[in-house]
Amino acid sequence: MLMITGATGALGKLVTARLADRADVVIGSRAPAPGGRRVDFDDPASLDFGGVDTLLVISAGAAEDDVVVARHEAAISAAEKAGVRHLVYTSLSGDGDHLTYALAHRWTERRLRRSSMNWTILRNGLYAEFLAAIAAPGPDGTIAAPLGDGRLAAVARDDLAEVAARVATDPAPHAGRTYELIGEQALGGKDLAEAIHGAYEPGTLAATREAITAAAQALPFQIPMLLSTYSAIAGGFLDGTGVEDRGALRTLLGRQPRPPIEAYRAALQGS
Ligand SMILES: NC(=O)c1ccc[n+]([C@@H]2O[C@H](COP(=O)([O-])OP(=O)(O)OC[C@H]3O[C@@H](n4cnc5c(N)ncnc54)[C@H](OP(=O)(O)O)[C@@H]3O)[C@@H](O)[C@H]2O)c1
Repeated sequence: MLMITGATGALGKLVTARLADRADVVIGSRAPAPGGRRVDFDDPASLDFGGVDTLLVISAGAAEDDVVVARHEAAISAAEKAGVRHLVYTSLSGDGDHLTYALAHRWTERRLRRSSMNWTILRNGLYAEFLAAIAAPGPDGTIAAPLGDGRLAAVARDDLAEVAARVATDPAPHAGRTYELIGEQALGGKDLAEAIHGAYEPGTLAATREAITAAAQALPFQIPMLLSTYSAIAGGFLDGTGVEDRGALRTLLGRQPRPPIEAYRAALQGS
């Protein structure tokens, strides 16, 4: 049996949709649909992985490091206790080490490498859809996100879902492997603006920091999370050039990745 946690998140939904016709797949979520199991990493009593051979753990949301680490520790130790044979974890690409949210991912990877289970780490690059959230045009069509001249090797979320579904349904060949799943084309502000027939007039990180802080109903981790994303892109860390095996996404998909610019455009249109 394969269980997918976080099945009602954006990535989880795409994974489960691909596996909807399989009787051996169980959906785990904090709010599962009928037939699924309630799985909440914050509630150890809900972590019943009995009968599960493979567990696909979709990283558990954005939160402070200690919260995410505790969630992932709870999930991994419950999986070990239940005799899960293989755990597949959706992590963050290696070039994302400068992002404030990298720590919890790296902690989880280290915990898995020490675990008694087989494991596979899917180091997901930042989604093109995420880029649509942080670099959307204003009402006049101008993108003002502080990306400077930096570019992001963004990935269509659906490509990452397809890889996760493939690996989780046939995990044995992927045991002990860590895959860097970043896009092949890096997108900068000018590329985004061109695709939507808009303009790119990058703001400064300082102005963005001020605006976010002033607007904030933000939780403490959210401001550094967003700012580190902008500064890592602007600093050139996420353009893909720092990743050695840039072909893993194409290899695991068995085809060319979806153009991230299309995923960006579709996300802006809400489709
Ligand atoms: N690569 C990127 O660009 C990017 C961008 C944003 C986030 N992420 C990371 O990738 C993950 C999946 O992305 P997404 O787009 O699907 O994010 P999302 O739509 O925000 O979904 C959040 C996910 O976190 C799970 N979650 C939250 N709290 C949990 C808990 N206490 N126990 C178990 N699961 C919990 C949710 O599961 P249920 O609601 O089903 O319980 C859901 O799968 C995120 O959680 C985040 O860690 C990556």
